[in-house]
Amino acid sequence: MEIIKCKDYKEASKVAGDILSHAIQEKPDIVLGLATGSSPIGIYQNLIEDYENKKISFENVKTYNLDEYVGINRDCPQSYYSFMNDHLFHHVNIKKENVHIPYATPKALEESCQKYSDELDKTVVDIQLLGIGANGHIGFNEPKTPFEQKTFIVELTDKTRQDNKRFFNSIDEVPTKAITMGIAEIMKAKKIVLIATGKNKAEAMKRLISKEVTTDFPASVLHLHQDVVVVTDEEALSLVSQ
Ligand code: GLP
Repeated sequence: MEIIKCKDYKEASKVAGDILSHAIQEKPDIVLGLATGSSPIGIYQNLIEDYENKKISFENVKTYNLDEYVGINRDCPQSYYSFMNDHLFHHVNIKKENVHIPYATPKALEESCQKYSDELDKTVVDIQLLGIGANGHIGFNEPKTPFEQKTFIVELTDKTRQDNKRFFNSIDEVPTKAITMGIAEIMKAKKIVLIATGKNKAEAMKRLISKEVTTDFPASVLHLHQDVVVVTDEEALSLVSQ
């Protein structure tokens, strides 16, 4: 695991954005695994800028998103489908048919998971982008998720619902379930880039860097992957003794 320590969120977004941007230049038909949350927004802004400056094109890029809430409509501003459109897809020349975001209606939970899992079985993700939850979740793989897990419906923990409350009017509106790529599918990516910045991520980074691999802290599975880059900043590393 390579750790890149940046000054702040802005620098981390540029560094991680450049990793993706260079990869798109080298392989225009790259397959990207994408993430939501506040952390990747700066990366997406950098990619949009590189697209506008004609450094990269999304014409042949394919994307697979990590997760989506269950129980809210895709058109809802809080859905990850809307998030991706607002923060990236509507600003670049990606083809609609090349975008994959899991989606599960409450009536077809199992079928939706199987469908996404089958898609992922046929796919090799070149670079998977990840954020990290305060409890170490990646995608929506909460603590205790087995490392062999494939796409599934997860019951969100209170901690995760509280953390994500800021995007909703009240805690009651935060969905209790989500569909997420499983840890096994995340680990299949050739390369993983995780971005974690700010003091809210300091405990999580301390735990990640401790190198203990345990399902209690899902992101620790990344120590078992051959090519992981963690792009982080001074605040997120403030509890790690240098
Ligand atoms: C959500 C997403 C995760 C993301 C996490 C952290 O739970 N499902 O993929 O990593 O939030 O988000 P943030 O970057 O906003 O801290």
